[in-house]
Amino acid sequence: AFPIILDCDPGHDDALAIMLAAADPRLNLLAITTVAGNQTLDKTTLNARRVCTIAGITGVPVAAGYDRPLVGELHVADDIHGSTGLDGPAFGEPTVPLADEHAVALMRRLLLAHPEPVTLVPTGPLTNVAVLLRDHPEVRPKVREIVLMGGSTERGNVTPYAEFNIAVDPEAADLVLRSGLPVTVVGLNVTHQALVTPDVVARFRALGTPLADACVELMTFFASAYERVFGLPDPPLHDPVAIARVIDPSLVECVDVPVVVELTGTHTRGATVVDLHHKTGLAPNARVAVRLRAAPFWDLVVDAVSRLSGSP
Ligand code: BDR
Ligand code: CA
Repeated sequence: AFPIILDCDPGHDDALAIMLAAADPRLNLLAITTVAGNQTLDKTTLNARRVCTIAGITGVPVAAGYDRPLVGELHVADDIHGSTGLDGPAFGEPTVPLADEHAVALMRRLLLAHPEPVTLVPTGPLTNVAVLLRDHPEVRPKVREIVLMGGSTERGNVTPYAEFNIAVDPEAADLVLRSGLPVTVVGLNVTHQALVTPDVVARFRALGTPLADACVELMTFFASAYERVFGLPDPPLHDPVAIARVIDPSLVECVDVPVVVELTGTHTRGATVVDLHHKTGLAPNARVAVRLRAAPFWDLVVDAVSRLSGSP
């Protein structure tokens, strides 16, 4: 199976990304690391442990990383994910422990120890991954690829032109995109093809397990938040699309193009400037997702939830 490390900020869609990464037999989930983003680090870390607990994901280390971006203050997404970062279900005390190691130290150790190169899948702000690459260049040959959820070829969500994960830590995203390593960018233009329709919710409900019921509650909260904030009743399940790209690249069509992060824009800081038509003369530095095969994507996600046992 394909070795991956999931670096996340759960988060409703991160929660489903954890389940997909842990359950799909084609992946070997080496670790879950957390970062501040959708909520503060203490909350995203607690949420990662909560998700692992209700999903019966044991034996995958969970380690906490940075509690703020490289530059400036943290801005959380409590309007979308609630005051806990994972509002909806009632969670008990998690039984899955927190590793006694910083996320970056754990990533470095696992990368250097693993016999084959490992794919990093960041689904939150890129702070942890940026520090890993900046401070530990010896890991570079051990990184097969970075498949991140962030940015957009179009407009943003947290500001008119910036997507949340990039906007929270633009300097970190800039460092990752200029790293020279293979980077795949799964942005809003494609994650908005992964809409949690009532039909998807019905498929979760039909599974009839406690975990599936928790997914229904998560998606119900997420949908009401998206309706309130964006007038969009069927919310996009962003983060699992990055995992799906690793599981089966044919699900997510990509193009090789130049991508830069706007760091100084008056109104556009944190925007990803994606040169789809090769106007800048810059060399392509990323593989950018442009199309999702939504039906097989949902089959993967529903299948993952059905494979996982555990009770809330
Ligand atoms: C991204 O921002 C977060 O709120 C989601 O978890 C996702 O990673 C979408 O812009
Ligand atoms: Ca996320």
